[in-house]
Amino acid sequence: MRAVTLDSVPATPAVTEVDTPRPEAGELLVKVAVSSINGFDAATAAGYLQGMMEHRFPLVVGKDFAGTVEALGEGVDGFEVGQAVFGVVMKPFLGTGSLAEHVTVSAGYGVAPLPDGLSVQEAGALGLAGTAALDSLNFVAPADGETVLISGATGGVGALAVQLAAARGARVIATARPGAEADFVAGLTGTPVHLVDFAGDLPTEVRAFAPGGVDAVRKSTTCRTRSQRLPAAEDLETARQL
Ligand SMILES: NC(=O)c1ccc[n+]([C@@H]2O[C@H](COP(=O)([O-])OP(=O)(O)OC[C@H]3O[C@@H](n4cnc5c(N)ncnc54)[C@H](OP(=O)(O)O)[C@@H]3O)[C@@H](O)[C@H]2O)c1
Repeated sequence: MRAVTLDSVPATPAVTEVDTPRPEAGELLVKVAVSSINGFDAATAAGYLQGMMEHRFPLVVGKDFAGTVEALGEGVDGFEVGQAVFGVVMKPFLGTGSLAEHVTVSAGYGVAPLPDGLSVQEAGALGLAGTAALDSLNFVAPADGETVLISGATGGVGALAVQLAAARGARVIATARPGAEADFVAGLTGTPVHLVDFAGDLPTEVRAFAPGGVDAVRKSTTCRTRSQRLPAAEDLETARQL
């Protein structure tokens, strides 16, 4: 099959021919209709994950996928051949990714039937960023009417977090640069999103909308180093200070 592969890292991925994977016990073989490029894939190619996860070369990159079940490994229940599915490759090693004509995934996690109303194109870009957004929203658990500041709202995770927070009835403050970025975020939901410019005086802009402070901060910015990430507890403290 054709796949986007790496023979080493750091390196530029290339389209090559590799063996089509076979589903092991408990796995599905999925014929991939749509996949997408996540920051995780770029990090893999850049060599940032060396020492963190086993790399199996030729390494097929790709996390997200949508497609149809083509074969069932031994002992798989709950899925059938021909069924439309989507998800995320969640193996504990790198090598059998989804930017390929086929991918094998565990039937037990990281894959779900394609729900009505979700296009295969949307589903093929939803898995990893979507679960990150959902997990973070579940963590801050905004109640109806509470105010949530979402940083990085134009990004893959942030744009989904804005929609999830609004759907839960939260008052959303979102960071976006003025112009096309702000217009994009404003159009994400059917409800008003209060936009603030992270390159400006962010605390003042936030207080103008939420004089009493916000209830939670959902931070989804791209950081240069891990040490720049704020742990959740610090995020909540930041929220109180704002
Ligand atoms: N994507 C995933 O599936 C995923 C999953 C788990 C965890 N993560 C992590 O989540 C974070 C965001 O990932 P992503 O894929 O959403 O990244 P992304 O698409 O590159 O988005 C990054 C966002 O951060 C904004 N930003 C940059 N500098 C900022 C600043 N100083 N203050 C506020 N916002 C700033 C960007 O705005 P501009 O566009 O205006 O620059 C953009 O909205 C990363 O740390 C990533 O490792 C991502």
